[in-house]
Amino acid sequence: MTQPLALIEVGAIEVGTGRTIEVEGRRYAVFNCDGAFHVIDDSCPHRGGPLGGGYIEGCEVYCPIHGWAFDVRTGACKSNPGRPVRTYSAQVRDGTLWIER
Ligand code: FES
Repeated sequence: MTQPLALIEVGAIEVGTGRTIEVEGRRYAVFNCDGAFHVIDDSCPHRGGPLGGGYIEGCEVYCPIHGWAFDVRTGACKSNPGRPVRTYSAQVRDGTLWIER
């Protein structure tokens, strides 16, 4: 069974940016991709780089450590298709971004 978790006020994340948010000991990477919010695990499946701090181009984020590219909408890894990152269902309610975990 999933549980809702509030991550951040959406006004804090501008279009085309992302950030790492730690809640209850777990790190999430949150992105504003063309006005839509997407959440993936912050830990890169290669060697744990912080994806929330990666370079963003469109809806792709590039890991700041070795540059693997991920689609923030699907979690697909374009650099190594066998190593996707987990995604979370995200919703905005009353200006706050919530995920199901
Ligand atoms: S740790 Fe992310 S690409 Fe290596």
